[in-house]
Amino acid sequence: MDPIRAVKGTYDILPEKTASWHRIESVVNDVMHRFGYYEIRTPLFEETGLFARSIGEDTDIVGKEMYTFRDLGDRSLTLRPEGTASVVRAFIEHRLDQQGLPQKLWYMGPMFRQERPQKGRQRQFHQFGVEAIGSPSPALDAEVMLLFDTIAGELGLDDRRFLINCLGGAESRTAYRSALVAYLDTVTDNLCEDCRRRKATNPLRVLDCKVPSCRSALDNPDVPEPVHYLTDDDRSAFENLQTYLSALGIRYALNSRLVRGLDYYTGTVFEMQYAGLGSQSAIMGGGRYDRLVGELGGPDLPAVGFACGIERLILAMETAGTAIAESGLDVFLVDAALKPDQALKYLKTIREQGLAADMDYLGRSMKACMKAAARSGAGYVVIIEPADDMVSVKNLSTSEQRTIPFESFLAEAPLMKNNERK
Ligand code: HAM
Repeated sequence: MDPIRAVKGTYDILPEKTASWHRIESVVNDVMHRFGYYEIRTPLFEETGLFARSIGEDTDIVGKEMYTFRDLGDRSLTLRPEGTASVVRAFIEHRLDQQGLPQKLWYMGPMFRQERPQKGRQRQFHQFGVEAIGSPSPALDAEVMLLFDTIAGELGLDDRRFLINCLGGAESRTAYRSALVAYLDTVTDNLCEDCRRRKATNPLRVLDCKVPSCRSALDNPDVPEPVHYLTDDDRSAFENLQTYLSALGIRYALNSRLVRGLDYYTGTVFEMQYAGLGSQSAIMGGGRYDRLVGELGGPDLPAVGFACGIERLILAMETAGTAIAESGLDVFLVDAALKPDQALKYLKTIREQGLAADMDYLGRSMKACMKAAARSGAGYVVIIEPADDMVSVKNLSTSEQRTIPFESFLAEAPLMKNNERK
């Protein structure tokens, strides 16, 4: 019988890779705490309508990438394709606005999109992200960008830079939309069928289209740029953000084509791309969404946030040479005395000292045990000798070996801890 394999676009994260995940989780936890963000955990599936209303019917995500199914109660449910909609739903449902503003929330977990799998693009992938709800200040935009910049810096991604753009609020967007539609009217014949429809329903999405004829129709300096249609207020907020980013030493570049693939954005949008990742180079993306909370039935509150793709972050760490390997064991115990009860007791005591320790459970020869010890990454092998309470301790890097009472070994044990875990 053919063995069952993982579903297309899903991957197992094997032990050799989990050290980098642990490192990211611990840096994220620590930085979120330092920035005053609190973790929120929402369900993996929601009513389909939540995503359709927030991400937008005309987006690729809602149009063709969602895992939607009916449950036994004939409800239409969807595995979450992103975190923002769920966090805003929870914020409204639990009246978090009454607990002080802005509410600064963060999350981490799997997301699901039925995209064509390729390097850096999975059908089940993982994000961590933040949503800061309740202030329109560009200082908060700068803070969420600084927060990600800090995490990326602590993970060793030195060669980093944000791309930023500003779509503006309702008034700016209406002006930009008219200018864009006027331009698209001049190239209608070259647009794909979807984009001819989108021109009327949601023209900004045309800028995202991957169809070659649409891309070349838009490869023209005459394509209008959102920043030229901003109201004075929107322009000054965007200028303030840039002043703050410069003051904080955050590297960024303006990119007038950055519109992002979700409909809820209303102001600043940003992404960070990392060189060397191929076509899926965006390790994170986000921006301001000042209308979403109100549109989903909550109070009329502005918000800003981002999400980072953890698989892509790890690819970036591998490119930068900062991905980490599992630290392995400290001690491998070999029961040469053939006294399993004593071996189990010794192992328990060694582990109680805070050392990572294991032993052989297959009755292997001394030679095979030494091989297993080397494979485990242990710095030391401890061999239980037939003489009462005596052990031989072998340092695997120097090959030095001494026979000493188990008590003396325990006194030295703290020094045998692997450096990375001390
Ligand atoms: P997004 O740009 O759709 O934004 O996703 C954010 C990041 O998730 C991307 O930059 C990428 O690193 C990662 N990502 C997305 N799809 C995949 C995939 N199929 N495979 C691997 N990684 C992927 C959002 O999700 C918004 N909710 C961000 C946000 C939060 N905006 C405001 N608040």
